[in-house]
Amino acid sequence: MTDNARRSPIDTTPYTLEMPEAPVSWPEIFGRDRPVELEIGSGKGLFLANAARGNPSHDFLGVEMAKKYAYKAAERLAKANLSNVKILPGDARRFLHLFVPAASVSAVHIYFPDPWWKTRHRKRRVFCEDFVVDVAKSLTPGGDFLIATDVEEYFGVMMELMDRHEEFTEQARPEPKTPEHEHDYLTNFERKYRIEGRPIHRAHYKKTTA
Ligand SMILES: C[S@@+](CC[C@H](N)C(=O)[O-])C[C@H]1O[C@@H](n2cnc3c(N)ncnc32)[C@H](O)[C@@H]1O
Repeated sequence: MTDNARRSPIDTTPYTLEMPEAPVSWPEIFGRDRPVELEIGSGKGLFLANAARGNPSHDFLGVEMAKKYAYKAAERLAKANLSNVKILPGDARRFLHLFVPAASVSAVHIYFPDPWWKTRHRKRRVFCEDFVVDVAKSLTPGGDFLIATDVEEYFGVMMELMDRHEEFTEQARPEPKTPEHEHDYLTNFERKYRIEGRPIHRAHYKKTTA
C-alpha cells in the first residue's frame, strides 16, 4: 500500500507528484503542453482547486511541505474531479531550485507564507533572495509573480527584495474580490484573515526580461 493510499480513502494518486530526481518535463507530467502555474505552500488547496476550475486551459502544480495538508489538498482536487492540477508534497524551495526548468512556468503564486516571527527562525522563511532568483529563473518572459500576506513587516522585506531584481516590473496591486460563497476566497488563510478584518498586503509582478 502506498503512503498516499494509507492516508486517504479517496484515490488521490492521479493528483499527487513525487519529488523528482531530475528537472521535470511539464508535458510529461500533465500529458499536454500548456501554460503551467506553480503555487508555493498550497495548504489545503483552495487556491489550486478554484484556479484550476477557473482556468481550464492552464495546468497547475502546488508544492506543499506538510504532508497532511498536501494530501488534504489532493483529496479536494480529486473530489472536484479536476484534470489540470496536481500537488507535490515536499519543499518548494528545493523543487524550484533544482527541478523547475528555466523559463518554463507562466505564473508563480505565493500566498500567506509562514512568517517565522522569532528572529532566530527567520532563515526558515521561504521568501528570500535565493527564492526570488529561482522564481526569476523559472518564469517565462511576461510571466506573473503573485504575492499576498497579512504580515506587514514580511511584506516590506519581500518588496525590498523585489526592488533589487530588475527582471521584475511591479503591476497594479491586486484588489480583493467580493466572495460569492464560503469557498470563493483566494486561499483558506485569506478567508480567515478577511473574516477577522486583518489588512492583507498584495502584489503582482511581471518578469519583463528574457
Ligand atoms: C500559513 S500557510 C498558508 C497556506 C495557504 N497558502 C493559504 O494561504 O491558505 C503556509 C504553508 O506553507 C507551507 N510551507 C512552508 N514552507 C514550505 C516549503 N519550503 N515548501 C512548501 N511548502 C511550505 C506550510 O506547510 C503551510 O501549509
